[in-house]
Amino acid sequence: MSIQAIDSGLADLVVAETKLSLVDGERGRLVIRGHALEELSGRRRFADVCGLLWTGALDVDGAAIARALGRGRAQAFARVRELGTALSMENGMDALRASLACFKEDRGSPLEVGGALSGAVAVLAPAWWRTRAGLAPIAPDPEADHAADVLRMMGANADSDYADALDAYLVSVIDHGMNASTFAARVVTSTASDAVSALVAAVGALKGPLHGGAPGPVLDMLDAIGAPERAEAWIRAELDGKRRIMGMGHRVYRVRDPRAAVLERAIERLESKGKAGDRLRLARAVEKSADAVLRERHPDRALPANVEFYTAVLLEAIGLPREMFSPTFAMGRSAGWWAHVLEQRAVGRLIRPKALYVGPLAA
Ligand code: COA
Repeated sequence: MSIQAIDSGLADLVVAETKLSLVDGERGRLVIRGHALEELSGRRRFADVCGLLWTGALDVDGAAIARALGRGRAQAFARVRELGTALSMENGMDALRASLACFKEDRGSPLEVGGALSGAVAVLAPAWWRTRAGLAPIAPDPEADHAADVLRMMGANADSDYADALDAYLVSVIDHGMNASTFAARVVTSTASDAVSALVAAVGALKGPLHGGAPGPVLDMLDAIGAPERAEAWIRAELDGKRRIMGMGHRVYRVRDPRAAVLERAIERLESKGKAGDRLRLARAVEKSADAVLRERHPDRALPANVEFYTAVLLEAIGLPREMFSPTFAMGRSAGWWAHVLEQRAVGRLIRPKALYVGPLAA
């Protein structure tokens, strides 16, 4: 039988049916369980959108989910002291992966387990940051709003403008089709393994700069460019050196990532209150230059800005250090991972593709 290897990146291969999110790469649309992203980010709290993903309904009791997240944060914090070695690791995603691996999935309703998982990620990332900085981790307030509590646990300014901005970010990255980390979570789940194992695998996948590790380098790029008039020359030099421009290009989108626009609006809201510094102008100029130069170099492949470009600008404006950008992405996406674990469990079939053997045959 002759078989042919498919594209090594599995591009355009459909590996599951999902009711969780639609990523429309041609029209630049993201739909989360029947709701356009623009209806959700900045308009509904993270807890409400967790409810949408975990139950299918937007108007389930948001307060109950907020309580489940609060309980999850409190339970996770009770274990922070014993996770000292994991939380002392140099890289935040390594620390998150190692510390999360010490948890186990408890029995409970989808809301309870989801609250425990997302609550744990929301605690472990700030605990890592503070431990690494030589500061004592700050205990969560289980009654507080989830995003505000994350900022408080960081020791950052948690006023409602910043909490709203972080909440809008967490919602904008909550789920995104069959991205690499979600696929990793689904593969693990398909073996009938547990949700913590699935999330640990997903954190490992998200760490990579081609997936969730790009926003820190985006900020490094903005720092290196410094002023709008230097953008074009800098980008040309990078491309001449065969390096990729972080925050540009996407496997699915052929037009601008709709999350970039949503995040840009969140930055504008902070800016209108004098709370966003002055990065946005530079970021827009760099995006424009990168877009133009990439069009020139790749006339057949659109490489517009992706979510990571404005993530960097927004999370910096919120006051988070760049080392926290990928762990903060994981906080939002953890809710989507759990929803995919539930969906994959319902499928109940092992994911086990084949490889085309191209090595020597036995003599
Ligand atoms: N900067 C420069 N060139 C890029 C590029 C970028 N950001 N993204 C893709 N390209 C180029 C590739 O070098 C390749 O060129 P070639 O055909 O001359 O070899 C071409 O575009 C196609 O790239 P490919 O790697 O096949 O695309 P992909 O669909 O596998 O990659 C990404 C998608 C996201 C991994 C890719 O666009 C990328 O690396 N972006 C930067 C990292 C980033 O922002 N990641 C966050 C994603 S949300």
